Amino acid sequence: MAPQRDAEVMNGDGQCGEELLAAPAHIWNHIFNFISSMSLKCAVQLNIPEIIHNHPQKPITLAQLVPALQIPETKSTYLYRLMRILVHSRFFGIERVQETVEEQVEEEGYVLTLPSKLLLKNHPVSMSPYLLGMLDPVMVTPWHFLSDWFKKTDELITPFEATQGMPFWKYFGDNPEIGKLFDKAMACDSKLVMSVVLKECKMKFEGIRSLVDVGGGTGAVAMALAETFPGVKCTVLDLPQVVGDLQGSKNLEFVCGDMFESIPSADVVLLKWILHNWSDEECVKILKRCREVIPSKEEGGKVIIIDIVVDDHNKGNYESKETQLFFDLLMMVFLTGRERTEIEWKKLFLDAGFTSYNISPIMELRSFIQVFP
Ligand SMILES: C[S@@+](CC[C@H](N)C(=O)[O-])C[C@H]1O[C@@H](n2cnc3c(N)ncnc32)[C@H](O)[C@@H]1O
Repeated sequence: MAPQRDAEVMNGDGQCGEELLAAPAHIWNHIFNFISSMSLKCAVQLNIPEIIHNHPQKPITLAQLVPALQIPETKSTYLYRLMRILVHSRFFGIERVQETVEEQVEEEGYVLTLPSKLLLKNHPVSMSPYLLGMLDPVMVTPWHFLSDWFKKTDELITPFEATQGMPFWKYFGDNPEIGKLFDKAMACDSKLVMSVVLKECKMKFEGIRSLVDVGGGTGAVAMALAETFPGVKCTVLDLPQVVGDLQGSKNLEFVCGDMFESIPSADVVLLKWILHNWSDEECVKILKRCREVIPSKEEGGKVIIIDIVVDDHNKGNYESKETQLFFDLLMMVFLTGRERTEIEWKKLFLDAGFTSYNISPIMELRSFIQVFP
């Protein structure tokens, strides 16, 4: 009798059977979302992408993968289960092993997919430093205390600071191991973004004499620009912990400093993945500083921003929009920043005294924005 009574209770709000079944499945899926991230982290830590990539015969069978990973033979069935979920999430593919004339082989093996190729550690635009950095316990811990943070009144203390005892950038300065991993992650991302920018937006850099990349990390963006435009003087401004030990080259210079204090003068100021780190008030301060150091629009002055513009009309696909919203919460948990819609960007530009802007979407998630004084 009891199960029947429970079913009646659940149907009390007029839901039909199919919706009732989909709702718990939706909840289960979200409860276990972290298993996707953690399985992928495990595969990267075990160097599974490298092992598959370097194996002489492709695909690599489970029986070949186990010794190549140097894990005990007894872990074979567990590895099969790890690989099964990563095949499901399209990080690895399954292909039939080539049959030889002499023996009928019915076996299957694993191959890399495009996403797992991007996780190879020595890939020029590898995303494994980002994955390992973001899934480090230091980065994951603040998420466990998010509801506590919501109840507190002090908005200036981020969930990251509340759990790690210091602000995000200071933490990286005091803990160089994770700081360097973050810088590497940013540099890989910048190489990838610049390969697209220099293909799709190259003309937007033509005619400029100088450029300063504010918060430019270890200089991957500036290096790509300095190489493509040897006549352009490129400067990277970042914190001493990031650029203190870096040497420039012919048309590339590293400057230690604080973007809120001073920014070197240039025709163009570039801000890649900077403004989303900061609150509206902080962004207006940074943008006003930028406006002070560039010439007029007629003389070629502009600010270039490479950042997310939240797709509030849902024009993109479901996964892209969800990833933009993940980044928005990431900014809330780690920093004072946020991801912005076009209307929110426009307000920042006007508040900082700029007169016009244009936005060109590049890649799935981000846009190339030009802002004119
Ligand atoms: C999200 S990273 C972006 C790095 C780079 N623009 C890129 O996209 O690869 C933000 C950068 O801002 C730098 N940063 C943080 N606070 C800063 C400040 N007050 N002045 C200058 N740079 C700062 C950090 O050290 C970091 O390199």
